[in-house]
Amino acid sequence: MKRLAIIIAALCVYHMALAQNAIFLPDTISGSTIGLTISRDSVQFLPGRITQTYGINGYSYFGPTLILHKGQNVHFTVTNHMGDTTTVHWHGLHLAAINDGGPHTMIMDGMDWSPSFPVMDRAAMYWYHPHLDHKTGLQALRGAAGVIIVRDSTEQTLNLPRTYGVDDFPIVVQSHEFASVNQINPRAMSDSILLVNGTLDPMVSLPAQVVRLRLLNASQERTFNFGLTNDRLFYVIGSDGGLLSAPVSTTRVSVSPGERAEILLDLGTMAGQTLYLRSYGSELPSDVRGGTPMNMGGMNTMYSPLDGIDFNILQIHVAAATASPVTTIPSSLVPVPRYQASAADMTRRITFTAQNMMVMDGPFYFNGQLFDMERIDHRIPLNNTEIWTLRDSTMVAHPFHLHGVQFQVLDRDGNPPSAKEAGWKDVVLVHSLENVRIMMQFTDFPDTVTPYMYHCHILMHEDDGMMGQYVITDAPTGIAGPAADGCKLYPVPASDVAYITSDHSITAVEIRDAIGQAVETPIHLSQQAASIEVASLSDGIYTLEIKSGEQSFFQKLVIKH
Ligand code: C2O
Ligand code: CU
Ligand code: CU
Repeated sequence: MKRLAIIIAALCVYHMALAQNAIFLPDTISGSTIGLTISRDSVQFLPGRITQTYGINGYSYFGPTLILHKGQNVHFTVTNHMGDTTTVHWHGLHLAAINDGGPHTMIMDGMDWSPSFPVMDRAAMYWYHPHLDHKTGLQALRGAAGVIIVRDSTEQTLNLPRTYGVDDFPIVVQSHEFASVNQINPRAMSDSILLVNGTLDPMVSLPAQVVRLRLLNASQERTFNFGLTNDRLFYVIGSDGGLLSAPVSTTRVSVSPGERAEILLDLGTMAGQTLYLRSYGSELPSDVRGGTPMNMGGMNTMYSPLDGIDFNILQIHVAAATASPVTTIPSSLVPVPRYQASAADMTRRITFTAQNMMVMDGPFYFNGQLFDMERIDHRIPLNNTEIWTLRDSTMVAHPFHLHGVQFQVLDRDGNPPSAKEAGWKDVVLVHSLENVRIMMQFTDFPDTVTPYMYHCHILMHEDDGMMGQYVITDAPTGIAGPAADGCKLYPVPASDVAYITSDHSITAVEIRDAIGQAVETPIHLSQQAASIEVASLSDGIYTLEIKSGEQSFFQKLVIKH
């Protein structure tokens, strides 16, 4: 049966060689007010049963491309008509946690969510997708996602292709498993259906000049080792959160789930010819999903017919050049000041673990713990510069993603990153038994109530609990580690009196509302306990700072009358 499935899947791969559908190019939306409506829909991808999908603003699968300009303000209204709760996360953008659309910011079916924020990001490709706890994979893979292109004045001065759909294309690559009844499987391991921008058997016509492709891997688990037919050279110009300091001439760029790479192709001499964007999976190491799976003591760990092979993803027809084409590759791009590690930086260690070394499918853990919506894993003092050591103690490589800020890869097992990886990143693939050190600064958005996420971007691992959360505190003394230790706050929610008990003697308690304003109400202290009169406070979520001498502990106070 398994064998039959592989043969059928292999036929699908063969079928894809007959690429023939022009890729879907989503319309763009820009401006200071943007409405997104996510709906339930369906697509006839394969013969037989239609495939249930989600689409945005009238599309049956996927959503419009948002064009944002650094420095502008943007007001969103996100309307949920999915028939399910959701959230919308702006992957890679630097914004307050309440606007980030993580799993705490739920939008019930039929409801709206209206985040507003300034665009503070460098020119690059970001993306948006749901982030509901346990359901990110299902909702994102079924199509509730789209591309964000940020433009800025520095990028604007460079002689780069930037005409959307003419010489500058989003290329969103997904490999899907359509389970027996043609439904997208959010836990796909036998993925064999490739989509580019939601298009099956995709092709694109590109002009015979310098063209920019913005590659996004929006797959469940597969890493693509992108290259072109005949190992044709191309240039990597950008990573997740910005342009590189100079184009990197190469024949490969590996992009794991959630990651982006911007590349330039020089097609100047190729008018009339056909080539392919490919994945050279045979070159990926065996710990990476997409490489040749390792043979675990005779157990057949072959999951997908795409594993360990080289295959075409997108057929490229080279057409005539446009008027006033870009014809040269710039020699430099934008300065990328590299962080320098210093002894003063706070360090944290995040070890990727599993029940044992034989676990290939999960669940996987951070520091031995599954995700818990109610547990804050790290409290990061505002303005901290930090170095996180990501240690993968499992047999499987994991693409680690951090919300809230872009980071830099300091080193991999002590070696500096390659030029392609020396720019701004929000996802980094950590290999089995590797130590990757990343460095970042937390200079904005203190909020001890709504956390930011970090997680594996293999969606099945994330949904299974390979996720943690952090908050940024503006407390003067850095509170590292589990700060709420020994403090209990009850009842939840509270209506007239909230009680605190602590292992430490309590010297003061301060209350702040959701926007950080101090709130006055009678508080009674007695050694290791306190009571707070909350009857006159309005419903909502407040932050308590519980002081014990020099130390502060933070707790969320929920009031509901
Ligand atoms: Cu692309 Cu937390 O996600
Ligand atoms: Cu994200
Ligand atoms: Cu993982």
